Amino acid sequence: MIKPVALITGASSGLGKATAEHLARTGWRVFGTSRRFRETASGNIEMLQLDVCEDDSIANCVDTVIERAGTIDVLVNNAGFVLNGFVEECTLAQARSVMETNFFGVVRMTNAVLPHMRTRRNGRIINISSLAGLIGSPYRAFYSASKYALEGYTQALNAEVRGFGIYVSMIEPGFFKTGIVQAAVNAGQPIEDYNHQRAYVDAYFGQGVRHGSEPARLARLVERICRSSRPRLRYRIGPDSVWLPRLQTLLPKRLFTLGVRWYFKLD
Ligand SMILES: NC(=O)c1ccc[n+]([C@@H]2O[C@H](COP(=O)([O-])OP(=O)(O)OC[C@H]3O[C@@H](n4cnc5c(N)ncnc54)[C@H](OP(=O)(O)O)[C@@H]3O)[C@@H](O)[C@H]2O)c1
Repeated sequence: MIKPVALITGASSGLGKATAEHLARTGWRVFGTSRRFRETASGNIEMLQLDVCEDDSIANCVDTVIERAGTIDVLVNNAGFVLNGFVEECTLAQARSVMETNFFGVVRMTNAVLPHMRTRRNGRIINISSLAGLIGSPYRAFYSASKYALEGYTQALNAEVRGFGIYVSMIEPGFFKTGIVQAAVNAGQPIEDYNHQRAYVDAYFGQGVRHGSEPARLARLVERICRSSRPRLRYRIGPDSVWLPRLQTLLPKRLFTLGVRWYFKLD
């Protein structure tokens, strides 16, 4: 029996790795990617080298999957990282770099895979967004900006390609237990005035991820979306990702902003 084919970016750790392992266990042929690996197989997952910021790397990766498997049924755009720092502490180069991976990386991968899906009049694209794409997160403004950009892009793309039998969805996770804090990049020009807030917010995010949901939960959701005949545009997962956006809608805007300042001890 021919297995459906999934390509998952950022499958060396965290949510991408859990998703790759789960899909491989549940009947998919899975290609995972990492910037570090070169063409290795890990368990049932075929690992390919990929940097989503490099056009040649993307072309090589997508061509390899098409050559070996003949098709790509599902693309999971998961690769991403966090830039920690208050806005004026981050250099412009750092701000660009997080947009380059988290947003333009998705755009590049999608551009490379869409022609195949369009020709076949079939395909699923799943973009891993974030709660930070629904609520502007202090100390992570540029990470938030990259996920907000992804939200608008995904909504528009989904409307554009539906007619070709392609469904584009996004998952908006709250905190999940992964290596995202360890892999985060810190602001390049720290400012002493923010030292107190930085210590608190760093500890808050660290604790959030340590006590976050299990990546296997998100992996199961990805499988559900892949198997659905009519996937939705948005899926929120993790308690914080459900109640915080609701509060944002229900509370008067000024009160919500006050709440955020109080919560992050910004005053
Ligand atoms: N964990 C959470 O609480 C949480 C919450 C909301 C959203 N998310 C989102 O979930 C996704 C996965 O994050 P995670 O928590 O699983 O973090 P993670 O454990 O740090 O995994 C990030 C993955 O992205 C890959 N990556 C980073 N930059 C890349 C690039 N330029 N090109 C290709 N691959 C790259 C890394 O691979 P290599 O380093 O091996 O290349 C790694 O496999 C991200 O988009 C993140 O924004 C996570």
